[in-house]
Amino acid sequence: MPISFLVVVLGFAHFACSQLPAAAWNYHPYHYSYSLVHPQDMGETRLDTSQRMEQTAIALQTMQKELNVLAETSQHLAKTMVTVWILTTAKLDEAARRSAEISQQLAETNDVTLNLRKALNETKKDLTAMKTKVEDLTAELRASSSSASIGKMPNSCSDLQLIGHKISGLYSVMGNKSVENVYCDFTKESKDEDFQKFIGYSDVKSVPTYFYVQKNASFSAANVPIPFEMAKVNIGDAMDITTGIFTTPRSGSYYFSFVGLAELPSFPDYVYLEVRLYVNGDGMGTGYASKASESGYKLSQIALQMTLNLQKEDKVWLQITGLSAGVSLRDANGEHHTHFSGLLLQEDFS
Ligand SMILES: *[C@@H]1O[C@H](CO)[C@@H](O)[C@H](O)[C@H]1NC(C)=O
Ligand SMILES: *[C@@H]1O[C@H](CO)[C@@H](O)[C@H](O)[C@H]1NC(C)=O
Ligand SMILES: *[C@@H]1O[C@H](CO)[C@@H](O)[C@H](O)[C@H]1NC(C)=O
Repeated sequence: MPISFLVVVLGFAHFACSQLPAAAWNYHPYHYSYSLVHPQDMGETRLDTSQRMEQTAIALQTMQKELNVLAETSQHLAKTMVTVWILTTAKLDEAARRSAEISQQLAETNDVTLNLRKALNETKKDLTAMKTKVEDLTAELRASSSSASIGKMPNSCSDLQLIGHKISGLYSVMGNKSVENVYCDFTKESKDEDFQKFIGYSDVKSVPTYFYVQKNASFSAANVPIPFEMAKVNIGDAMDITTGIFTTPRSGSYYFSFVGLAELPSFPDYVYLEVRLYVNGDGMGTGYASKASESGYKLSQIALQMTLNLQKEDKVWLQITGLSAGVSLRDANGEHHTHFSGLLLQEDFS
């Protein structure tokens, strides 16, 4: 559009340049003036006519000058227009070149974009795969780290494995009656004999129980539990020294030890002292000491040591089951000849 407009303007300018000056040069003002004068006014109007001719000539000169100026202006305009046109054409050429370049670049950019999109598609696929993988791993982790149970205490490495243990090492498992230590090698098959190795029993007690008591005075009452005056140790408080009765806090194996001093007088000839350990009223073992002055026959022991399997709440005590008159289980302040101790060796768990 601007180009066609320019062409029109340039055309006009050219026309003006070539036509206007020609029109100015071919003009004949005298011929025009004569034709305007009437013949009957000739005498009076000669002066007027010459004046008018002069004025007309001046006007014509002025017009001539103006026409010249106009012609110059038109030529200048035309030149300017041409210059502008040339410049514009050059610019248009450059624009066309640039446009071609840009087209080329655009094509290249298109290629790059396509490649990028392909790469993006690949990345998208990878990301999707990775997301799935992460979700799987998360589920697996959640499953492996959540609480697990087989509904009972584990008895073996197989049980531990069922619960979810994977790291080989020393573990405690519940044995038949006690806690056991085992080594589990979870890298082995469960049928493999190296899968579980028994190490030993765990010395686990739910209640620590042991005592050591003494008498502080002689005692000679028969068929009643022997009380004690002094408790050196009474861990777990299972021994009641005032009644002399020990009550087992748990089922298990217990060890008891009693040593007493029998004081046997010179008369009568034959005297004795018998002490027995009872569990719930059943005699478990007997200590005995005696002497016969005339024959010299003598028995000397009064010591009891025993290991017993007991049930929870069993009652254990000592009592004199027989003695002669004048006989006693001797003790006194500062002497301490009579000792009784007991301890829980192994607690039964089941
Ligand atoms: C990218 O993937 C979409 C659909 O997933 C497809 O329409 C398009 O053609 C792919 N583009 C390329 C460059 O592979
Ligand atoms: C546990 O008891 C079973 C059957 O009573 C026996 O075969 C097994 O040897 C016992 N285990 C231990 C460690 O005592
Ligand atoms: C032992 O008995 C004496 C007196 O016979 C008494 O003074 C002392 O306090 C008693 N000791 C204990 C621990 O009962």
